[in-house]
Amino acid sequence: MLELHTFVLLCCSAAPLWAAPTRSHLPPGTARFWHITDLHLDPSYHLGPDPTTVCLSSKGAAASGAGVFGDFLCDSPFSLIRSAFTSMAALTQPQDFIIWTGDSPPHVPVDKLSTDAVVQVIANMTHTLRQHFPQLTVYPALGNHDYWPQDQMPDSTNAVYEAAAELWKPWLQPEALSTLSRGGFYSQLARPGLRILSLNTILYYGPNRATRNATDPAGQFKWLEATLQDAARNQEKVYIIAHVPVGFLPFASGTTAMRAGANERLVSVFRRYSHVIAGQFYGHTHRDSVMVLLDRRGEAVSSAFVAPAVTPIRNVLEAYSNNPAFRTYWYHTGDYSLRDVWQYFLNLTEANQKQRSDWRLEYVMSEAFGLTDLQPRSLLQLGLSLLPAPSRTFPTYFSHYMVDYDRSITCEGECQLRQVCAVLHMDRPSYSKCVSERRAGFSQL
Ligand SMILES: *[C@@H]1O[C@H](CO)[C@@H](O)[C@H](O)[C@H]1NC(C)=O
Ligand SMILES: *[C@@H]1O[C@H](CO)[C@@H](O)[C@H](O)[C@H]1NC(C)=O
Ligand SMILES: *[C@@H]1O[C@H](CO)[C@@H](O)[C@H](O)[C@H]1NC(C)=O
Repeated sequence: MLELHTFVLLCCSAAPLWAAPTRSHLPPGTARFWHITDLHLDPSYHLGPDPTTVCLSSKGAAASGAGVFGDFLCDSPFSLIRSAFTSMAALTQPQDFIIWTGDSPPHVPVDKLSTDAVVQVIANMTHTLRQHFPQLTVYPALGNHDYWPQDQMPDSTNAVYEAAAELWKPWLQPEALSTLSRGGFYSQLARPGLRILSLNTILYYGPNRATRNATDPAGQFKWLEATLQDAARNQEKVYIIAHVPVGFLPFASGTTAMRAGANERLVSVFRRYSHVIAGQFYGHTHRDSVMVLLDRRGEAVSSAFVAPAVTPIRNVLEAYSNNPAFRTYWYHTGDYSLRDVWQYFLNLTEANQKQRSDWRLEYVMSEAFGLTDLQPRSLLQLGLSLLPAPSRTFPTYFSHYMVDYDRSITCEGECQLRQVCAVLHMDRPSYSKCVSERRAGFSQL
């Protein structure tokens, strides 16, 4: 998640979960994988008489809704994460795999953690995943909180990269473990013809002082291009996974999630290799959003997804939050193009009231937006449908953005403009053009 001192915003027609297995007979030629992100375990979470001491992650604010599954001012209690994995495990099929886009430790002051504490939380989450999914391969990516002090990931080997390479041995092969322990990134063949490429985008994250002056920290850009070139030569498709996304933050004006220069450079690499990249998957913002990468002529060439978090935490000053969430993607087994997203959630308020965690299907992306699939052209169609005519789709999109946290919160004018330009434009020039040229259309509403 974002640095609090950089942005003052820690920052949100449910069908029942049992609807899923009835359709778990996937259409022929289709398979699935899971995406979990931003678990943010807070080991200090405990119920007690004083709401200000329920969790260290509330930083003294009163967790007045605290229950067995958490509170909107706190990071995840272990019980919340366990309930998520238990619900997922019940729906899992043998050929599935999991992508896990980082951030296991809690949002707490720097002196409440240490390298050891961070490694222990990552180890706990790794072991807990292994217990619930002994048969599945998990492809992790490192997040900005998966380091101590947070965000400061160096461009060379260190205790955290080495610990991750040790912990993730059951899932990753020696070549992947070797680049992981050196620079926090790797690639590995997940299926014949499908390569997962896990980028360490924390090397490009604004608050990371350790890499501020480097032109290519850890040589990751060089490695990325070489890996994509090899994939093209071997006729593989690639799924990019990372914690901090490329593109613009949907809630901020003109702010990329990573450093401006790195964003432009990544966008240009992703455009050049868009025939190889079959999807991009991120976390970090805690919210549910999509982005379509357009080439210089405005053709849609790549689909990107930011998955909502398991942690429900919000900053005490912020109105937005998210219900805890996880999702599956459906893909074509022939060319690995993306068919759909099935988004699941836990109504945290209800779960605490009932002391029972009924994870449910929140929505199916193709159905919610009337799309035939999630290929780049379909995401462009979705993005254009969010433009004010006025847009009938935008309120649905925005409600999903917060995982149905609070449907009474609306987003119009500038708020909607930022959301929509962030969906449609990932590079600076075309994003800026979107904001200036479309502003009038949004303010007239
Ligand atoms: C992870 O930590 C929780 C407490 O926060 C503990 O109950 C659980 O046993 C730990 N699991 C593993 C596998 O270390
Ligand atoms: C980056 O460059 C600035 C000024 O050139 C220098 O003061 C700073 O120490 C450098 N930082 C690192 C991490 O090398
Ligand atoms: C979540 O549960 C609360 C309490 O039962 C209810 O008021 C709210 O409408 C529910 N939200 C969703 C999205 O189901």
